[in-house]
Order: sequence, then structure tokens, then C-alpha cells
Amino acid sequence: MIVDGKTVIVTGGASGIGKAIAMLAAQNGARVFVGDVNEQGGLQVQAEAKAAGLRVEFTRLDLADPSSISNFASTVQEAAGGSVDALVNAAGWEIVQPFLQNPPDLWERIININLLGVIRLTHAVVTKMSEKSSGVVVNIASDAGRVGSMGEVVYSSAKGGIIAFTKALAREMARYKVRVNCVCPGPTDTPMFHAQQNERIKEALIKAVPFRRLGRPEEIADAVMFFLSPQSDFVTGQVLSVSGGLTMVD
Ligand SMILES: NC(=O)c1ccc[n+]([C@@H]2O[C@H](COP(=O)([O-])OP(=O)(O)OC[C@H]3O[C@@H](n4cnc5c(N)ncnc54)[C@H](O)[C@@H]3O)[C@@H](O)[C@H]2O)c1
Repeated sequence: MIVDGKTVIVTGGASGIGKAIAMLAAQNGARVFVGDVNEQGGLQVQAEAKAAGLRVEFTRLDLADPSSISNFASTVQEAAGGSVDALVNAAGWEIVQPFLQNPPDLWERIININLLGVIRLTHAVVTKMSEKSSGVVVNIASDAGRVGSMGEVVYSSAKGGIIAFTKALAREMARYKVRVNCVCPGPTDTPMFHAQQNERIKEALIKAVPFRRLGRPEEIADAVMFFLSPQSDFVTGQVLSVSGGLTMVD
């Protein structure tokens, strides 16, 4: 099994892509710690995993709140007996709305959750990884961060920030044998996608995808597993779109 015996944190694991990553990592032998602001969803994923004989443990995490992030990091690191082996930053949040209508507090919330929250949690986790000279980080950004997306101006900025964060951190962490990579989903069949996009935009997005369909959360999870696995031991600072060919970026 690809991550047998490894300890993996998955943020956003209560739903959609994060849930698919948490379940796939657990099926591949990992002990998974899910962090999410959605307690009901997180506990449900924990129960589903338990019923399937998998190790997934839920701890509440609000990426908009620095004290929640530091509590989460220390609780999980203690439960894991020191440092964790891998961190998957999959949580995300947005409201789709034209930039000209955005209230400034929406900018702050989007940046806090999708960029600053990821930076805060990653700092806590890679500090421990650097001390033991091993670890893997996988960030879930978005094709919106590579090519821009209408109605998602500040979200695109945050996700573009995650892509640059991935590359710069990968350079600094290489000396500690910590790899950092990034997966960019395109339109993917999750609660977030359906909550944010109206039917007309959904159809237009699907038409723009060369494969003419939405991605499945499990397909994003497969790409994450590659970056978590020893098959990518010599890969760091890379950005992989999983979007049915919607974007083809150099
Ligand atoms: N679905 C898509 O089309 C799509 C496309 C590109 C990128 N993404 C990215 O993929 C990731 C997963 O999204 P998804 O589509 O599965 O959405 P989702 O809404 O199904 O899951 C996102 C999870 O993040 C959690 N979350 C939100 N705010 C949080 C906070 N403050 N603290 C902790 N957890 C929080 C939610 O509770 C939820 O469980 C996100 O980073 C998203 O930006 C999704």
C-alpha cells in the first residue's frame, strides 16, 4: 500500500475532494487526521471510515482562526507521537460574485481561509517535518489560480498564491528532504461546485472541458496519492492540473 503506516493530515476532509483524499489515503494504509470546520461532516466521515475498518480521526479546524490552527496542529502532532508524515491542504471556501460587487470583508475571508490559513497550518507542520528531515506537503490550488476565473477574482488570487507558495516552499524545504507539490482541480463534482455555479455556467464550463464532463473527487485524490507516494520521491515544486484538459499550461 502506497502510504502504509504513514500519518497524513487532510484539511477539508469532511466533504468533496478532501473526503475522497482522506478515504483513499486510509485505504492505502495511512492513519488520517481530518481537520475541517464542518464538525457534522467530519464526524460522519470518521464514522464511515470506521465502519470500513479504516483509520480516519476528525478534529475541528477553522482555517480562518489562527488559534484554531495552532490548537489543531498541536493536538494532531501529539496524537501522532511527534510529527506527521504528510499534510494535504484541501480545505477551501469561496463565494462566486463579480469583483465589482465584492464587499472588502469577503476578500479578507477568502484570503484568510484559502491562503493565510494554509500558510499558518503548513508552517506549524513543516517545522516538525524539517526537524526529522522527511515529509510531504500537497496543496490543492485550482486552475483558477493558473489561468484566472470570472466571478472568482480574489479566490483566483489566493489560489495563485498557493501555487507560488508551493514552489518557493519546495525550494526552502528540499534541504530537509520535505517535498511540496500542488494539484489544481478544474470543475469538479463536489458540494462546493454545485453551491457556487448556476446551471448556465455549469453547462458552459462542462462544454469548455475537452472531455466534456466534470472531474470526480476520486480523480483528484488519485493525483494527490502520486505526490504522497514514493513514486514521486524526486518530484518537488510541481503543479499538476487535473481538469480533463480544460487548461494546458506550460
Ligand atoms: N470543486 C471544484 O470545482 C474545485 C475546483 C478547483 C479547486 N477546488 C478546490 O478543491 C478543494 C476542495 O473543494 P471541494 O470542491 O471538495 O469543496 P467542498 O465544499 O466539498 O469541501 C471543502 C471543505 O473545506 C472545508 N472548509 C471550508 N472553510 C473552512 C475553514 N475555514 N476551515 C476549515 N475547513 C474549511 C469545508 O467545510 C468543506 O468540508 C478546495 O481547496 C477548493 O478550492 C475545487
